[in-house]
Amino acid sequence: MAAEEKQTCYEGGYVQSFQFYLEHSGEHEAVLQWVQNILPGEFKRIGAGKSSLDVLGVGSGGGQLDVQILSLLQSTCPTVPISSDIVEGSAELVDNFKALVAKTANLQKIPFVWHFMKSEEYEKQVKAKGDMKRFDFINMIQMLYHVDDLAETISFYQSLLKENGRLMIVIEAVKGGWDTLWRTYQKELCTDVALVYRSSGDVVDCLKKHGLKYEEHVIPNTFEITECFDPSSKNGECLLNFMTMQDHFHQSFTPEIRAGILDLLRNKCSTEKDGKIFFDSTLSCILVYA
Ligand SMILES: C[S@@+](CC[C@H](N)C(=O)[O-])C[C@H]1O[C@@H](n2cnc3c(N)ncnc32)[C@H](O)[C@@H]1O
Repeated sequence: MAAEEKQTCYEGGYVQSFQFYLEHSGEHEAVLQWVQNILPGEFKRIGAGKSSLDVLGVGSGGGQLDVQILSLLQSTCPTVPISSDIVEGSAELVDNFKALVAKTANLQKIPFVWHFMKSEEYEKQVKAKGDMKRFDFINMIQMLYHVDDLAETISFYQSLLKENGRLMIVIEAVKGGWDTLWRTYQKELCTDVALVYRSSGDVVDCLKKHGLKYEEHVIPNTFEITECFDPSSKNGECLLNFMTMQDHFHQSFTPEIRAGILDLLRNKCSTEKDGKIFFDSTLSCILVYA
């Protein structure tokens, strides 16, 4: 298989850009807080009467959230053996995830199966084999922007759920800052790395079209982007690079487009407090039923 068919764009400089974003945005902390509030109740219900629990992470990246989710499942259902399958198409992030598992003492009893490939390839292989492994809990956190066919992907993973299982999708909220930025500048931003932009609104449309049952929760989050408005700030440029998925924000667009994006970020995607500008990065968590 050609490397580009197997691997995602999350390698090298793009992984660094993503790491920088994670450190700056508080995104993982916001998701984790939500996970700790809501998932124990879900896990009790999912685990009731089960003799084993099978978990699948799709597009799990470096696994920081998967590790927390698995630890939470383990502490909620301490007597039930757990297995974990991971579908991830970044070689660098799979290595980071494996290193994280190796140093997390409580995960040593959980067998991991690593599917180093894109979601589309996993789907093809599972369908070709015919014998589908089913799961009690599947998570797809901040990855649906990158799949070829949104509706197909959601209905495939939903079909892998066992009785009482849940598919957890985390994605940028409709009408949040990202949605406003990416829909307004779709033509300029949706180029090679992201060909389309998606938000929770697109996921909900697919779920409704397929008649799938779901519940939606808001995960509030904001992060400071004040430095983005200082052209000499390195941090500001790094954030802008990630937010627009460019290698060099200041070289990638015409001065008019740059000015337009900065104006939109300040006036339509953010709030100002004590002279600081905070970007609205509200997320949506959608729990799809089996
Ligand atoms: C924004 S990152 C999110 C990573 C992780 N879920 C988190 O929240 O930290 C997107 C992830 O999706 C992966 N990805 C991109 N396209 C994919 C595809 N077609 N199939 C599976 N994973 C994919 C990337 O390699 C990356 O790890």
